[in-house]
Amino acid sequence: MKLYEHEAKKVFDTMKIPIPKQYGVIHSIEELDAMKLQYPVMLKSMVLVGGRGKAGGIKKANNMEETKKIASELFKLKIKGLAVECILLEEVVDEMGACYFGVTMDPATYHNVVIVSASGGVDIEQVAREKPKTIIKREIPDNSRELPEKIAEDIVCSLLKDLPQMNYLKDILVDTIVKLYATYQRFDAKLCEINPLIITSKGVVAADAKMVLDDNALFRQVELLEMLGIKEKRHDVAERTKNELRAQTAGFPYIDLLPENHAKDPHKLYVGLIPGGAGYGIFSIDEVATIGKRFFNDRVVPVNFMDSGGGPTQNKVAEMFHLLMDNSDVDLIVTSRFGGISSCDIFIRGMVQAVKERYENGKKMIPVFGRMVGTDLPSARTFLEKAKAENPDVMKNVTIFVGNQRIMADVIREGIKKAFESKGWKI
Ligand SMILES: Nc1ncnc2c1ncn2[C@@H]1O[C@H](COP(=O)(O)OP(=O)(O)OP(=O)(O)O)[C@@H](O)[C@H]1O
Ligand SMILES: [Mg+2]
Repeated sequence: MKLYEHEAKKVFDTMKIPIPKQYGVIHSIEELDAMKLQYPVMLKSMVLVGGRGKAGGIKKANNMEETKKIASELFKLKIKGLAVECILLEEVVDEMGACYFGVTMDPATYHNVVIVSASGGVDIEQVAREKPKTIIKREIPDNSRELPEKIAEDIVCSLLKDLPQMNYLKDILVDTIVKLYATYQRFDAKLCEINPLIITSKGVVAADAKMVLDDNALFRQVELLEMLGIKEKRHDVAERTKNELRAQTAGFPYIDLLPENHAKDPHKLYVGLIPGGAGYGIFSIDEVATIGKRFFNDRVVPVNFMDSGGGPTQNKVAEMFHLLMDNSDVDLIVTSRFGGISSCDIFIRGMVQAVKERYENGKKMIPVFGRMVGTDLPSARTFLEKAKAENPDVMKNVTIFVGNQRIMADVIREGIKKAFESKGWKI
């Protein structure tokens, strides 16, 4: 469960990690009148996603008039699709430098890791990608309850190699990393992060605070939840990719399996999936990956999870195809309509609508390979045959097997084989 920044800061405060002076959290502009603010003041949008600064959700104000104006703008803002429902007001800290401090668990090894960097701030993800050497990572042996002082010192010494002018802060930095680790352990967190840890003339201040609690251990954290006034377990809000947001707007479940800015491997085939329901969605991912491994030298990559079941409208089906065809990664779309609640007829009309629209507007077309069976099959078959006969150019790369005579694994394998052949790739 993610904590809001103001909640995580409350926790940090109890653990004696320095934070900026907190003026309070508001849900409406009117609440500002009762607040005693010192200027300049920082206004911070409380949403459970990162990158708020870049999205214009973190602003400084110099007087009450400005504070009200900025607050009313922030309340209208959406950050990565999330509305800003409350705003934290806090002291502005003078910045001489900024580091990144984090503690988390490596899900592959189950070891706690401490991560620090001298390049703190809003671009830490980019730093990690482009200059991984500036990120210092240390696995903690035996996942000890406390961070051994010796390890904390080692980590800080490595950090100070990149920040020699901050040597005088060594003890404070060691103390902060020890306390952050203690916070992570004491509250059963999956992640405790300070980014940026602002360096001031007097010491350090956690200008941002992020905590994600382990849901499985929440029963041990009754006191913490009480202190924060959290009465109900919060659903984790994952950060959505552009495609995920688009699918959410259109109203169907969709998950990207690849990171947003990954580099496409030119020797691999990327397969987009429009399956039936969620179970079929998971099956399709496994099947494409397994067939790729067994028969195509591990050169096939499933791109997405999608649940296209539950009786989508024709326009919604069309949007599913548009979404994948707009994705520059995708080389082939594998689809499988197992019509239960959903109608094959509506599905096929939505698909034909999408490919026609793309053909007419000169947009990228991607071959579609699949099978359909189930509700409304006869009318779907008739519509498909008619569409093929009337628009052979539009439909030339659409292959849909009608009925149950082929098993889906064979259909997937054949679709991938055809795609390899059309690229002139050896199998
Ligand atoms: N109290 C403060 N005083 C001075 N500067 C601040 C303060 N809070 C935030 N900042 C500045 O604003 C930037 C963005 O703030 P913050 O890191 O809290 O939000 P964010 O962009 O959402 O971060 P993340 O992507 O890590 O969630 C910080 O890097 C820091 O430079
Ligand atoms: Mg931050």
